[in-house]
Formats: sequence, structure tokens, C-alpha cells
Amino acid sequence: MEKIIDEKKQGQSLKVNAKEGNSRKLYIESYGCQMNFSDSEIVASILAKEGYNTTQNLEEADLVLVNTCSIRDKAEQTVRKRLEKYNAVKRLNSKMKVGVLGCMAERLKEKFLDEEKIVDMVVGPDAYKDLPNLIKEIESGRDAVNVVLSKDETYGDISPVRLATNGINALVSITRGCDNMCTFCVVPFTRGRERSRDPQSILEEVNDLASKGYKEIMLLGQNVDSYLWYGGGLKKDFKNASEIEKATATSFSNLLALVAEEQPKMRIRFSTSNPQDMTEDVLHTVAKYPNICNYIHLPFQSGNTRILKEMNRQHTREEYMALIDKINEIIPNCGISQDIITGFPTETEEEHQETISLLEYVKFHFGFMFKYSERPGTMAARKLEDDIPEEVKKRRLTEIVDAQRTHSAYRTNQFIGQTVEVLIERESKKSDQHWSGRNEQSLVVVFPKENYKSGDFVMVKINDCTSATLKGIPVGLSDNN
Ligand code: SAH
Ligand code: F3S
Repeated sequence: MEKIIDEKKQGQSLKVNAKEGNSRKLYIESYGCQMNFSDSEIVASILAKEGYNTTQNLEEADLVLVNTCSIRDKAEQTVRKRLEKYNAVKRLNSKMKVGVLGCMAERLKEKFLDEEKIVDMVVGPDAYKDLPNLIKEIESGRDAVNVVLSKDETYGDISPVRLATNGINALVSITRGCDNMCTFCVVPFTRGRERSRDPQSILEEVNDLASKGYKEIMLLGQNVDSYLWYGGGLKKDFKNASEIEKATATSFSNLLALVAEEQPKMRIRFSTSNPQDMTEDVLHTVAKYPNICNYIHLPFQSGNTRILKEMNRQHTREEYMALIDKINEIIPNCGISQDIITGFPTETEEEHQETISLLEYVKFHFGFMFKYSERPGTMAARKLEDDIPEEVKKRRLTEIVDAQRTHSAYRTNQFIGQTVEVLIERESKKSDQHWSGRNEQSLVVVFPKENYKSGDFVMVKINDCTSATLKGIPVGLSDNN
């Protein structure tokens, strides 16, 4: 299953139930990672208090916001194309205002206003609480910019408005920013230093979701294993914390256990894990609680230790393999997925082969595979020439995707004959007679609807599969309902 993220498919306009009395219309579109989708829910919540209801009709919007991604050049190009579209609509509706949010806003700052004449407002990922003021500015005819990054968690106190929701799965952010400084990555520049959120406010959000009938949550952060709450403040300042703060700090495995115990019927997932920060405690916690899904997204980027070093990843090929062995030992039947970057500067053919051989070793359930895209300002862009020709990157990517497809098929085939628990998430895209949901390992399962309903946990006997999807027959509700 080549889950190559296609930024084009990700743009999604979002709708919420209208709040009575609100007369202004907000059209908000999100690109990129799940954190952006989660942030857009915070933005919608802030603006609902300012009199905005969301609309899915661009033409009638008073305010258009696009939450942008900078991770690869293609993601930025997609946003620029959308701005052209907004521009065409704005010509017919001169009162419409356009704001750029997220990572591109942070990366390009004021330059955005010069480059894209259509943009009225530029707001970085930590400045959304300032939106009410910024909107007043643009309404009085001035451009507005706020790209200040924060040292605090920033949005822990805001209860997100759930957008584009199926009422079953929800995103809960637990950290913001990243301190890892992988040399290819723009995130530390656009999202700032790493901060964790107060566990109490996380539990409150989870309880609120449970009371509204949500069945599965995804705890989100750039680097969740590095979660650390010691009363607030940056992760890097933990060393200066008091003895009491250190003794009572909450680690990621503590947080997982807290959430799992608070809502034992809720399915819990988390993303993203970084190999160097994932501790055995986390694996034991996943193994211990049945409601924490046996699934880990564990990017490895490259199977070659020299390239990993150039990427400033803090792990070697061997350490990654040892971690995989540990996962398989502590959490039998764990679904594991990957991220890979191919064609990093100076990557040789032999080094590329080591990525393929690492894939063979692990046989991931699925993965997200990308060609290296040079990002301005990153260490890699400053120090290394983007010297792998496009055709070579393409060919290497195809080889990686082909290998992954074989492994995905191997994994899905292993489920044939097994009965697995599936949480129904939506109707199958291909048939209105079938439900679509996921098993613990995050594989999609499709089966006949019968009398089951969305949000049910159903036991499904698997009798067929493709490399991406399991198919089966429902045999009854699971005990978890
Ligand atoms: N820790 C983050 C990673 C964010 S980026 C998380 O929460 O997922 C997601 C993936 O995009 C990375 O793991 C990497 O494989 C890929 N990526 C990041 N920067 C890239 C670049 N410059 N070119 C190509 N792919 C990149
Ligand atoms: Fe980027 Fe590496 Fe952090 S990929 S988000 S710098 S862990």
C-alpha cells in the first residue's frame, strides 16, 4: 500500500454546526500533517466566539483561511495554486479577506504579503489566539502579521471545535514543536521549540470526547515519546526544574497509562514516535492496556547509518533494528509503519539498497515514502548540495514503494482466517452496502453492513485482502461496546 501522502488530496474544507447568532462565514482549508487539522479545530473554536460559522462554500465566505504545510516543496506549490483560486473568487467578492496560517506563514512571514498580493493576513502556528485582533486590523484595511513562536503550550485551555468529524475518531494534541533538528526538516523552524501540555487538560479533553460518544483518540505530537510535563515550560529547560518538579514529572508512558485508565473503553493511538526517544516503558504500557492499540508509527528515513548521521537522526541502522526486535518481543502482533526519505544528498546506490534491506528486515504493515525535497534554511540545504538527480530519486522511490507493497500484502495475508476487532468509522468508499473501519494495527477492514452501525466495535472474520485492505464477514459485536 503506497501511502505516499499526496498533498493535493489533503485539502479539505471543513464544516461545523452553526452557532446561533453567528452571522459571519469562515471557509477554512487544511493541508499537511494531523497537527494542522487539529490546529484548524482550535482556530474554528477561537473564531466561533468572534461571530464566525464555518461554510463549505468558498464563494460566500467573508474570511478564507488556509492552514499550510511546508514539509516538501510540493506541499507549498499546492497552497500557491489554492491562493490563485481564492484570488479568482475574491475578484467577485471584494469584501472577502484571505489569511494564511501554519508552517508556510511561519517560514515566509511578511514576505508572503509581497509574494502573494491576495493575502491579507499571515499567522504562524502559535499566534492563533491573536486572530481576533488581527481580523480587526484587516477589516480596517491594513495587512496583519503575527508569527511569534511561543514558549508555552499555547492552546491547552481551548476546547477545539471538531471539524469534518465522523463523531468517532478525534485528534488530541499533547506536545507542540520539535527539538530534534533533523537536518532535512523545516518543522523545528516553523513550529518552534518542544513544549508539552498539562496532563490534566489532556484528560479533560479526552473525557469530554468520551461523553460526546467518540470511540478512538489519537494523541498527537511531532515526537510524542519525548512528552514531559513538569509544570510547564520548554522541554530543553527541564534540567533547570526543581527537585520536586523532576520527581513528579509526567513522562509519555505515564500519560498513556493515565489516559488508558481514565477511559478504558476508548481506543487510544499516538503519533509520531521517534526511534531515539521511544523507551521500553512505552512498549510495556502499550502491551499492558488492551485499549491502547498495538500499533506504532516509527519513521526510519534511511537504512544506512552514514545517511542517518547526515540527517542528524540520533539512531543507527542497528539501533533501529534492535528497537523493532524489542517491539515484536514486548508487543506481539504490533502493527508498525514507517516514513522514508529517498535521495537524500550524497546517498549512494549501496546506501539506498540498505534502505531496501531494512524494509525487508521489518516487513512494515504500511508506510509513507517521499523523495527528498530541499527546504530553505535547513541544515541540509545550507551544508549539502541536492545532488541526486530527479530520475534517480524517482527510480529509488519506485523500488522502495514496490518493496513496501510486497510487505503490505504479506501482512494483510497473515490476517486471513483470523477474527479481528474493527471500529466502524464510515461507509466504504466503494460500496454503500459495506462499512469501513480499522483493526488495532491500523489496517483498513471492509465488511457487509448487516445491522451494525457507525461507531460499533465489531468482530470480523477476515476471508480476503488486497495489499492495502482486509475484507471479511462480521460475526458479532465485540465486548468493548
Ligand atoms: N515527527 C514528525 C515528522 C514530520 S514530517 C511527525 O509527527 O510525523 C513527516 C515525514 O515527512 C518525515 O518523517 C519525513 O519522512 C518526511 N519529510 C520531512 N522533511 C522532508 C523533506 N525535506 N523532504 C522529504 N520528506 C520529508
Ligand atoms: Fe522533523 Fe525530525 Fe522533528 S522529522 S518534526 S525535526 S523529529
